[in-house]
Amino acid sequence: MSSIVLGVSGGVAAYKAALLLRLFTESGHDVRVVPTDSALNFVGAATWEALSGHPVQTATFDNVPEVPHVRIGQSADLVIVAPATANTLARAAQGLADDLLTNTLLTARCPVVFAPAMHTEMWEHPATQANVATLRERGAIVIDPAVGRLTGADSGAGRLPDPEDIYAVCVNVLAGRPRDLAGRRVVVSAGGTREFLDPVRFLGNRSSGRQGLALAEAAAARGAEVTLVAANVALPTPAGVERIDVTTTSELRDAVLKSSVGADAVVMAAAPADFRPATYADAKIKKRPDGAAPTIELVENPDILAELVRTRPADVAEPFIAGFAAETGDENGGVLDHARAKLARKGCDLLVVNDVSGGGVFGQEDNDVLLLTADGEAQPVGQRPKTEVAHVIWDTIVQRLG
Ligand code: CTP
Repeated sequence: MSSIVLGVSGGVAAYKAALLLRLFTESGHDVRVVPTDSALNFVGAATWEALSGHPVQTATFDNVPEVPHVRIGQSADLVIVAPATANTLARAAQGLADDLLTNTLLTARCPVVFAPAMHTEMWEHPATQANVATLRERGAIVIDPAVGRLTGADSGAGRLPDPEDIYAVCVNVLAGRPRDLAGRRVVVSAGGTREFLDPVRFLGNRSSGRQGLALAEAAAARGAEVTLVAANVALPTPAGVERIDVTTTSELRDAVLKSSVGADAVVMAAAPADFRPATYADAKIKKRPDGAAPTIELVENPDILAELVRTRPADVAEPFIAGFAAETGDENGGVLDHARAKLARKGCDLLVVNDVSGGGVFGQEDNDVLLLTADGEAQPVGQRPKTEVAHVIWDTIVQRLG
């Protein structure tokens, strides 16, 4: 159980902080809520007191004998400010101590996370961006706001990420996950592509995108700027991750190659279809009167992983390129034999090898992989949740990023 301070500043999104509070308390954490005065215009003290089980105060001079302006910050394992308004970010960046929340921020020696929420213009304003940069330089974690509907009719960047996403970032911070990808830009592909035969039918595969999403989430939690290229993934986007949705292998190729320019690492966790129908029928293919089944001619799709390797300039190490290999053993060799041959064939820096003999990995929470690196190392990871597998993969990549 950790001791968490939930700072709430004055924005409409304050109501979402009540859900975040529930996520913390239901998993056994002790939470002190420190709202600003203006936050209480949106959600009242009674809600915070009832949900946290602690009294709530906003000013430095309430309850003076307990010296709360020092004690609350000193004893915290984590401070999370959600929502963090432009004003609160500015006060924190300036080191002001004009209410209990800002005093707490100055006395806290634990990790501090800010989840900003405001209108797009305020988020993009150079003053806010400078304040965010200052806070990040000092070691605070500032989650990028989500893009979507804002208060009123407008939409854009500035929406408070979903409480589950903020919670996930906090859990990683509490678990002591390193911020060793801060300042890095990474690209992760996820899901399975679809190749259309006609307006209603496609050739597809069983990839759910779970492992790719876990990789994107883990990289974001470790501080990376993440672009997720998602092929037909029905899962929600992790907080702070930029997502590009694609359908076919050709679209996946274009999006991955474009976003990989200047990236530090690219992880191809997607399952692109190797083949597509040679022709696309504009009208739905009908059954024939003679009962004969149509023959579908296939042509090969581009190999994106191989192209990434091929187009990386010979004299630079970046981006680090990782591929996945879904393998089954057969009469020509075991899973590892096929994987080693694939690593050599594709020429990438790391191959994450998945034994899919039983088909059991698709859509599951767990994965069992082996990491093969170009320098010849083979590291079995064992049966673990996909989020943990993602962190082991990033551990391996970070070690080699230089
Ligand atoms: N991959 C790719 N482009 C393709 C096919 C696969 O970039 N057209 C990438 C996948 O994202 C994965 C890796 O290549 O990272 C291995 O995919 P896999 O399907 O196992 O390999 P194939 O090249 O299809 O090899 P084979 O079918 O011969 O096993």
